[in-house]
Amino acid sequence: MSDLKRALGEAVEAAFAGLGLPAELGRVTASDRPDLADFQCNGALPAAKRAGKNPREIATAVAERLKDDPRLASVEIAGPGFINLRVADHTLTVRAGVIAADDRAGAEKLASPRRVLVDYGGPNVAKPMHVGHLRASIIGESVKRLYRFRGDQVLGDAHFGDWGYQMGLLIGAVMDEDAEIGGLVERLNAEDAPLSGPIPEPFQRVSLEDLDRLYPLSAARGKDDPAYRDRARKLTADLQAKKAGCYLLWRRFREVTHIALERDFHALGVDFDLWKGESDVDGLIAPMIADLDAKHLLIDDQGARIIRVARPEDKKELPPLLVVSSEGSAMYGTTDLATILDRQQSFDPQLVIYCVDQRQADHFEIVFRAAYLAGYAKEGQLEHIGFGTMNGPDGKPFKTREGGVLKLNDLIEMARAKARDRLHEAGLGEAFDEAEFEDVAGKVAVAALKFADLSNFRGTSYVFDLDRFTSFEGRTGPYLLYQAVRVKSLLRRATEEGAAAGPVTIAEPAERDLVLTLDAFETALAEAYDKKAPNAVAEHAYRLSQAFSRFYAACPILSAEPAVRSSRLTLAGAALKQLELALDVLGIAVPERM
Ligand code: ARG
Repeated sequence: MSDLKRALGEAVEAAFAGLGLPAELGRVTASDRPDLADFQCNGALPAAKRAGKNPREIATAVAERLKDDPRLASVEIAGPGFINLRVADHTLTVRAGVIAADDRAGAEKLASPRRVLVDYGGPNVAKPMHVGHLRASIIGESVKRLYRFRGDQVLGDAHFGDWGYQMGLLIGAVMDEDAEIGGLVERLNAEDAPLSGPIPEPFQRVSLEDLDRLYPLSAARGKDDPAYRDRARKLTADLQAKKAGCYLLWRRFREVTHIALERDFHALGVDFDLWKGESDVDGLIAPMIADLDAKHLLIDDQGARIIRVARPEDKKELPPLLVVSSEGSAMYGTTDLATILDRQQSFDPQLVIYCVDQRQADHFEIVFRAAYLAGYAKEGQLEHIGFGTMNGPDGKPFKTREGGVLKLNDLIEMARAKARDRLHEAGLGEAFDEAEFEDVAGKVAVAALKFADLSNFRGTSYVFDLDRFTSFEGRTGPYLLYQAVRVKSLLRRATEEGAAAGPVTIAEPAERDLVLTLDAFETALAEAYDKKAPNAVAEHAYRLSQAFSRFYAACPILSAEPAVRSSRLTLAGAALKQLELALDVLGIAVPERM
């Protein structure tokens, strides 16, 4: 059985078609005035305009055709010609029973699933993640889960930045700081040393803190000092040519970074199917360049090789894709292009979604066009979904009080500390042992960060406000967790008292409202899917919690007489199941108790 909105929409569409009017005008939406109706159709207005008739007349004719539909309690015309539908209690009773018995709580599955790859997170090797990676991780994780939940076959790939110029910069910086390492890199570069096997002992002295300290210094120096920059480029080329000194030192960079990345992603409830990096496509680059050459796409440009992608209709000029730098290195876009090939060969995705900061929009447009020109993907198969920034109170991208970028790990720790305070304030978790308390605090922190992010449309920037995000009141992740946990404890108590769930009967307004909200899950999922915008699911989760809360306040459960109690327990169980599914799509896990 489909959701009510669709089922009724089909009936209203048929009524329009039966009157010789365009069927699509029969679309129904949830009512703007729940006090008057459950659903509404505004199609009589455009229909009247086209037919040169009075909209109320058309609405009346449509209503006439619907009035015997047993699913409807009433069909009324309001204002200039809105058609208001009220659903019969019996229809809601049946729908509630279906949702309660369904593992997916009323969510449908796509008729034609696709293979989809989501490229997100995008951490860089040799740099700890900072707040800039937060949104890419949170939104990408949710888009991946959403697509999977709808039925697509989905892979998530972190696409580590580990093969570009920043690697050359760091190799140079480490060599300058530690003469022994510097000498060893040079010696090994000259030798034909093996690339696998143990990393030489002096290289193992390099820590993530060293890299973190050296990276900004060397990046800044590379900007002003051409000789320094040239050397970094040369070292990048040496790394890409797999000279042993550079390569083994780089392996150490990857190793130390990986540990920190795993920790941060794990703390955030983000996990990838593929932990691939730019370096993984290294072997594809030479044959790809030969192929691009054979297709006459490469143009020599002052020693570099580029692909021109500008189109005459472009409003602003798009620069070309830099495929090979004048030092012979593969660039950021080169590895992205080769990755498209790699994914095509290994997974053949029908859609690749790149969840990356909006500021990289041009980069992706350039890469995608090059891929289409080369025939590595079909137009429309590659899509960049950008997002705004998380800002500080000054409205600018979030910085620490000292003006630096905040490390993701520190942010997560801050959120956890705040979550602990909030739990104490609310007198929650007091009976827990330390492990359980910490687990709950971690879940509250993640729910706070993720929900604050995902409840806005991804294109919108938002202000970081940990006090508000972690509150147990209002539109927050912790509020939703608290509601879910409340239902869990209610259901536990029912079991203890021997009260079982049973057939649903809908009678009270708050029960009607709860079923109508449960029914809207599918619409929210479909909208989020089509727009690649999880905020529709976040909004649904919030509305569902509120509808449950009103129901719980208005309709006694455990104290009701047995048939009513069983019905309400079933409703509560359905609400909990759907809320947990929605939160899972957002990447938010619910504790058992709080
Ligand atoms: N590592 C990149 C950065 O931090 C993001 C990678 C995004 N994904 C991609 N396929 N380019 O800017």
